[in-house]
Amino acid sequence: MRIIENIAEMRRISDTWRAEGERIAFVPTMGYLHEGHLSLLRAARELGTRSVISIFVNPTQFAPTEDFASYPRDLRKDLDLCAQTGIDAAFVPTAEEMYPEGFQTFIEVTRVTQNLCGASRPIFFRGVATVVTKLFNAVKPHSALFGQKDFQQLVTIRRMVKDLNMDIEIVGHPIIREKDGLAMSSRNTYLRADERPVALRLSRSLQLARQLVNSGERNAAAILAAVSDSITAGGGATIDYARLCDTETIEDVEVVDGPTLLALAVWVGKTRLIDNCVLES
Ligand code: PAF
Repeated sequence: MRIIENIAEMRRISDTWRAEGERIAFVPTMGYLHEGHLSLLRAARELGTRSVISIFVNPTQFAPTEDFASYPRDLRKDLDLCAQTGIDAAFVPTAEEMYPEGFQTFIEVTRVTQNLCGASRPIFFRGVATVVTKLFNAVKPHSALFGQKDFQQLVTIRRMVKDLNMDIEIVGHPIIREKDGLAMSSRNTYLRADERPVALRLSRSLQLARQLVNSGERNAAAILAAVSDSITAGGGATIDYARLCDTETIEDVEVVDGPTLLALAVWVGKTRLIDNCVLES
């Protein structure tokens, strides 16, 4: 596996692969890899003839009050795991390489970013769209894979790729869960042992919503009230948002009528967890 730190070298390698007729599949990450990332890497190997991961904790998607400095990092372990999956290259740029002195250009996807995480983290999607574009320009992939746990991020990237005529196929990948149902996330490492049962309420409340819809409930307010109660009962959890949205516009819906996104962001102690599912009526 090649480890590449600078943009010019990454582009040279990708240009050579493209000239040889290879198909490049790309997985952008912020590292501290878990099984969710590894399943994306395996899917990338199936999808392309060359597969690339990027590992870069992107400062522009964190607000000053957020966890950029403490975000978990373990590059050596990440690179070992990547090598074991058999991917071809890991692109691991520095912040100086990505954002040199004088940097001042950002990409904004204006509407699908308004609700959910965009409402609680106002600069987040601007940072994500900008860094993903820069990573695409460095890696020059034919396809890129993103996990559906960050559902709004996936919708935002699809919108950006369409609006800016980027010639890249965007592939969504199902949420990978721990055995107990907790959606895998690098931030799960922040959870204390006594917070873990509280964290499990997210996936359980998604199940509860599915049961309600299966038994005929269609009213969004009623479903969200049951979901919120099941998350907060017993204490230890503070809901940032619990919303039912259109899967394409990410706007709130009042009635579950067709595939509808149930999206959650919940603080468990100092850890902000997100989870979601698409309810089919
Ligand atoms: O989902 C993530 O890990 C990040 O938001 C991404 C897409 C790698 C951009 O920094």
